[in-house]
Amino acid sequence: MTDPLRITLLVDNRGTDVATEHGLSMWIEAFDQRILFDTGQGSALMPNVRQLGIDLSGASAVVLSHGHYDHTGGLSAALGMAREATIHAHPDVLLPRYSIRPGAIRQIGIPAGARAAFDSLPPTRLRWVEQPTHLAPGIGITGPIPRTTSYEDTGGPFFLDAAGQLPDPITDDLSLWLETPQGLVVCTGCCHAGLVNTLNHICAVSGDSRIRAIIGGLHLLNADETRLATTIEALRTFNPGLIVPCHCTGDAAMERLARDLGERVRFGTAGQVWEFD
Ligand SMILES: [Fe+2]
Ligand SMILES: [Fe+2]
Repeated sequence: MTDPLRITLLVDNRGTDVATEHGLSMWIEAFDQRILFDTGQGSALMPNVRQLGIDLSGASAVVLSHGHYDHTGGLSAALGMAREATIHAHPDVLLPRYSIRPGAIRQIGIPAGARAAFDSLPPTRLRWVEQPTHLAPGIGITGPIPRTTSYEDTGGPFFLDAAGQLPDPITDDLSLWLETPQGLVVCTGCCHAGLVNTLNHICAVSGDSRIRAIIGGLHLLNADETRLATTIEALRTFNPGLIVPCHCTGDAAMERLARDLGERVRFGTAGQVWEFD
């Protein structure tokens, strides 16, 4: 395990001279693995794969952080190239899902094309993740993350039915960690389980309490002051050397993280490459 880890932000809400959309995808080169973590909505992935020179045909795994459309929409196109990859996700990734706000109901679950791609996979290429697991040595997937903190309100306008009777706990939300000699590099999708819940869980199941870096969506856009302040205090304790918030973190929360945690916070944008020796 001497090669550097390399994480390329393939799709994000922000980016310069690359395609952008409300979505997230990362290309992770770690040890002998090549992992596509999420696929964005579908319009930005392949243009950026070509522009950034990523060889998706060499993917050993595709990991889906959860079933929202902005993480799964590019799956069909991705699997068209990643023909050898195994797919890792929680079974709830396939659930119908809705965002319900006053006067607006939207379907936000896995799109039909991605669902069809899933259904056409041979069982040998599917790995359902319902508990913490190692994808390969040094690469962990959380599985469902216990919601234990009192201040991380992980709710939202999310429902499993169009009538809004069944709140969606987004049980399938999972994150990924990479083990390095200097600690763990954590990759999050939307982090619907809450960032501190996620980090606590990863430290517990990995046996390593050193968080080296955090990259991904942190879903703090609706966080109240208590949650923001307490999350920042927790981050001071975890003391990662690098935090790359992006996607659904929220502009105000990103500014606050940077203000309170300083230069270790670097705003994520599509096209960035982060390397870890
Ligand atoms: Fe998202
Ligand atoms: Fe999400």
